Amino acid sequence: MTRYSRIAGTGSYLPPRRVTNADLAAELATKGVETSDQWIIERTGIRVRHFAAPDVTSSDLGAQAARHALEAAGVAASEIDLIIVATSTPDMVFPSAACILQNKLGIAGCPAFDVQAVCSGFVYALTIADSMIKTGAANKALVIGAEVFSRILDFKDRTTCVLFGDGAGAVVLEASDQPGILASDLHADGKHVGILCVPGTVSGGQVLGDPLLKMDGQAVFKLAVGVLEDAARATLAKAGRTEADIDWLIPHQANIRIMQGTAKRLKLSLDKLIVTVDEHGNTSAASIPLALDVSVRSGKIKKGDTLMLEGVGGGFTWGAVLLDF
Ligand code: ACO
Repeated sequence: MTRYSRIAGTGSYLPPRRVTNADLAAELATKGVETSDQWIIERTGIRVRHFAAPDVTSSDLGAQAARHALEAAGVAASEIDLIIVATSTPDMVFPSAACILQNKLGIAGCPAFDVQAVCSGFVYALTIADSMIKTGAANKALVIGAEVFSRILDFKDRTTCVLFGDGAGAVVLEASDQPGILASDLHADGKHVGILCVPGTVSGGQVLGDPLLKMDGQAVFKLAVGVLEDAARATLAKAGRTEADIDWLIPHQANIRIMQGTAKRLKLSLDKLIVTVDEHGNTSAASIPLALDVSVRSGKIKKGDTLMLEGVGGGFTWGAVLLDF
């Protein structure tokens, strides 16, 4: 019997502090930085983002999302035999956010590690978990995207600080005799490191370089639409499916114009596009599982629907996962 992996439950968590564009504009004005609700909505589609309190970490947000996913799946934390956290904002240099989160869930023994592929992190993590389940290395995995991007934003740079938010999303992925994950397609091209990065590091007890996010927005924009189209087509081809089989497109929630551009290139009606960037901003590796969970809980995504998940981000990294929910 062929062994597949299938999503058994989804969960998410947003920190309670909800910051509208107007709130952010007022805060930035006190620093002499000018922006407006109208500019942010027109260029990005973002209306609101959530920011975590200073003492809240990615593993805190991820653990809450994981608890909700376990509950939805009807799976006890003790049954989990693999934890992968996709994050670029881990709690500390080491150990991984996944190990810290494992302890918060009160379980021990199963492998736990982080995946660092920036905004593509969740599709990378899901693909790794799928492979490990298919080989029999795991039976029930928690795959989590969790970020506190507010920690790495330069609030004097209006071209980036208005775009990002904090949050977490999670799925329980379990072995099944029915597919599940149908195909995936992952890529990276390190020559584009400089267009989206946090170039600082820790050395000799000091921060070396600049530990805040830098982005060439137009370069990212141009690359993103092309690679998202290519990854979707490659994934469909691997699965022997076509665009017409996609019920819902869940791209990384970075910018409504990139998302709509991708849907149009795939000749998908905009009704099939899942949009949460308006309410969450760009939450990097958390954006896809957050959008998935919100849409499952609202009743939009139903069991049996075919979903195309697509990530793109720093690295440059990109990829897609096609699955029957
Ligand atoms: N408020 C008001 N004005 C602003 C702001 C702001 N927040 N930011 C920039 N502007 C101004 C600029 O200074 C510029 O003014 P000028 O014409 O007087 O020079 C003008 O608006 C236009 O700026 P552009 O950078 O040309 O604006 P653009 O239309 O390219 O939009 C944006 C910028 C939103 C960043 C866009 O390029 C984009 O979305 N890029 C993709 C970013 C993305 O998706 N990143 C996430 C990748 S995921 C990851 O891995 C983290």
